[in-house]
Amino acid sequence: MRIAEVAEVTRPPLPTGSREIDRVTNGGLTPASVTLLAGEPGIGKSTLALQLAAEAVRQGRRALYVSAEEAPAQVRARASRLDALGGELWLLGERRVEAILGEVDHLRPELVVVDSIQTVGVEAVSGVPGSVTQVREAALLLAEAARTREAAVLLVGHVTKDGSLAGPRQLEHLVDTVLSFEGDRHHALRLLRAVKHRFGPTSELGLFEMVGGGLVDVDDASGLLLADRRAGADGSVVFPMLDGRRPLLVEIQSLVVTGPGTTPRRSAEGLDSGRLGVLLAVLGRVLELPVLNAEVYCLAAGGVAVNDQGVDLALACAIVSSLASRPLPADTVVCGEIGLGGEVRTVKQLDRRLAEVARAGFRRAVVPSTAPDVPGVELVRVRTVNEALLATGLAGSRPARAARPPAGEGRPKIAAG
Ligand code: TYD
Ligand code: MG
Repeated sequence: MRIAEVAEVTRPPLPTGSREIDRVTNGGLTPASVTLLAGEPGIGKSTLALQLAAEAVRQGRRALYVSAEEAPAQVRARASRLDALGGELWLLGERRVEAILGEVDHLRPELVVVDSIQTVGVEAVSGVPGSVTQVREAALLLAEAARTREAAVLLVGHVTKDGSLAGPRQLEHLVDTVLSFEGDRHHALRLLRAVKHRFGPTSELGLFEMVGGGLVDVDDASGLLLADRRAGADGSVVFPMLDGRRPLLVEIQSLVVTGPGTTPRRSAEGLDSGRLGVLLAVLGRVLELPVLNAEVYCLAAGGVAVNDQGVDLALACAIVSSLASRPLPADTVVCGEIGLGGEVRTVKQLDRRLAEVARAGFRRAVVPSTAPDVPGVELVRVRTVNEALLATGLAGSRPARAARPPAGEGRPKIAAG
């Protein structure tokens, strides 16, 4: 066929009733498409899926929730917590894909949730549910059903901390959309992002809070993330990170242990451990701080994964703050990438980040020299790590040779180590 002869079909997405999900999915779930909702166990996938089904029903559509993992009574209990017991919300306790497809034909729902793809199995194929072949075959059949029955199909998939266990990764090319649901089970913040999306961009981040009545849209994520922060504590620095296009203030914490008997152990939660090694090398060799043999523990609070090199300077300040037992001023944020010579490099979209800094009520920002002015925030533009340490009152014990400040600019030196 000539490409122009192909019939044009436009299928508007089904709005989800959540501003945050609509943001990530570019308007909602698309009919005749398959979406994979992937995340670690306990993160809230079943909750989100059931809420989506309940919202579809509220909008006058019919939804089928297939539970292959939990007993129907358990799903019902969750539904009553979520106020999702109304109308045309159908529940099916079934593990056999053939039987699920039979019910789909029978009910003709506009939304089908399968929870989870690892626990359903195709009878015509060998292998136990959850095996690579079974997961693939089940997903293929359900994807086919989505297309022929014009339904929006949502597959729930479990992934483990290290990426995947029998499935979701290999499923990615079989589905139209992959949503990744992340967060720390011990913190209420949940992050939803589109890893793949055939119907829109993938740069949006959705933010939710898990409360007693399910997942709710978050208006002030920075506030939620910083709620547990002890302002003025050693080793704590607030960093304006950028996730996709969304700015978010996150607390970077560090704990440094020095002295006889310590081994150079390092741990980085939510931060890049390779990058931590580079920063310690810069602090140790360029600024001559006693970190090379120290135990260094770092984390991004709230279960957020920071994939943003702009965190370098904040992490370096957190490490020095812990090492020197000196807090940073509570109203100050820090942002910048660090080069191997201890120079501070610019980061992308500083204007967006600083706008969020101002909105959240911080008054001072230590930033790369290229930062644009932002009303309400005093900018301290720095060219080197050492200048940043001086600006935050952390001043290195021996200012770096490479980055020694001009005479008179130095402050009393700390006796780190
Ligand atoms: P769940 O959706 O079962 O996670 P998953 O399907 O990803 O394994 O929910 C996980 C946790 O969420 C569960 O431990 C309890 C909590 N939760 C709430 O805090 N509020 C609620 O309204 C619901 C339904 C669950
Ligand atoms: Mg579940």
